[in-house]
Amino acid sequence: MKLSTLSIATVASIAVSAANTEHKHDRRAIEIDYVYETVTVDADGVTLSSSNPTTVSADSGNDVSSTFAVSDISTTTLTSVTASTSSAEEETSTSSSATSEYVAPTTSSSSSEYVASTTSSSTASSTSSTSSGGIYGDLEAYADPTVKFEDGVIACSDFPSGNGVIAIDWLDFGGWTGIENVEDNSTGGDCRDGVYCSYACQPGMSKTQWPSSQPSSGVSVGGLYCDGGYLYRSNTDTDYLCEWGVEAAYAVNELDEAVAICRTDYPGTENMVIPTYVEAGSTLPLTVVNEETYYQWQGQMTSAQYYVNNAGVSYEDGCIWGDSSSDVGNWAPLNFGAGWVSSGSSGISYLSLIPNPNNKTPPNYSVKIAANDGATMNGECYYADGYYNGDGSDGCTVALTVGTASFVFYSS
Ligand SMILES: *[C@@H]1O[C@H](CO)[C@@H](O)[C@H](O)[C@H]1NC(C)=O
Ligand SMILES: *[C@@H]1O[C@H](CO)[C@@H](O)[C@H](O)[C@H]1NC(C)=O
Repeated sequence: MKLSTLSIATVASIAVSAANTEHKHDRRAIEIDYVYETVTVDADGVTLSSSNPTTVSADSGNDVSSTFAVSDISTTTLTSVTASTSSAEEETSTSSSATSEYVAPTTSSSSSEYVASTTSSSTASSTSSTSSGGIYGDLEAYADPTVKFEDGVIACSDFPSGNGVIAIDWLDFGGWTGIENVEDNSTGGDCRDGVYCSYACQPGMSKTQWPSSQPSSGVSVGGLYCDGGYLYRSNTDTDYLCEWGVEAAYAVNELDEAVAICRTDYPGTENMVIPTYVEAGSTLPLTVVNEETYYQWQGQMTSAQYYVNNAGVSYEDGCIWGDSSSDVGNWAPLNFGAGWVSSGSSGISYLSLIPNPNNKTPPNYSVKIAANDGATMNGECYYADGYYNGDGSDGCTVALTVGTASFVFYSS
């Protein structure tokens, strides 16, 4: 079953808490209460479940004129879990087809080019850092990509790894996360003329490419466009294929086994194949999208959605479409959601944790959303010893206004 999660934020109340009558400025602080709720819908838009609403107050501290319009902050949150691995053999396997012939000549020596196997494998022998490519990508955390993508230069038969783009090699799409043909609604096959070829970005990042004109059917489309045998951006507002999300959330694994968090490729096929693979004892950024600049579905803001597998499931086994007997991918036990909207001085990040409506079997670990040092977080959210907080079976959402929070996997 295809699911998406709508993270709906509505304004519960707006109180003008003060009308400072300074001589020169009529500056007013506005306090806004938001109620945030994660609603999971199936492909037909039928609601399957919803989380307990979370209320958060935000003092805008701004002039009235600069507060954002809050009338319709409903967000389509599509979270999927991304997995990354640090082992050398997986890094060397990240890509098999691309060669440096597809790299623009002027940029051929940088390690952050849009190239595939040769760069990944040559750096894999260095110590296990997240800069060595593979499913962790080639960029340091929150370091921007440096090499502009050039339209019409890379062949559709190749895969443009680097600058945050990671290859998904356990699927049969040549590194792509999905192939969509908007003419006949078909998906899959090779990246070929007339189709959108979608791709994954490293943990913490999101793809930038989708056409502004989307099918009226409500199906979303994303990725690079293949025309005349070469790849083109579908969004020319940016020169880079990946962008960082808001630095607000991390995945922290205190277990003895790795956890494959798999993000949904959205807009696109919604394949839950984009890995944030948190090895035992390690930490990775979890992408929190800026919902105001990210993909909007029929006028509604959307956030990142993740399927979270049991501990010990590899990303190759977990970041795929599953089935009812599998407990992986879209049948994994948990969903995470993460999105940011502007408000007050630093905005609000909504972070959620819900049982997967596909599979109410609980995960084989405990998990909590914990505020890191210096953070301001409203709400409480955990799954521990068989229960979610609140009434025990629903999911939960927290609202983070300052600092960062971590989704912590632990054994209880
Ligand atoms: C594609 O799907 C949409 C919605 O499901 C439908 O309206 C449209 O007719 C389909 N197009 C083709 C060519 O099948
Ligand atoms: C959790 O489940 C997975 C498979 O479902 C298994 O491989 C792993 O060993 C289990 N871990 C624990 C701690 O139970």
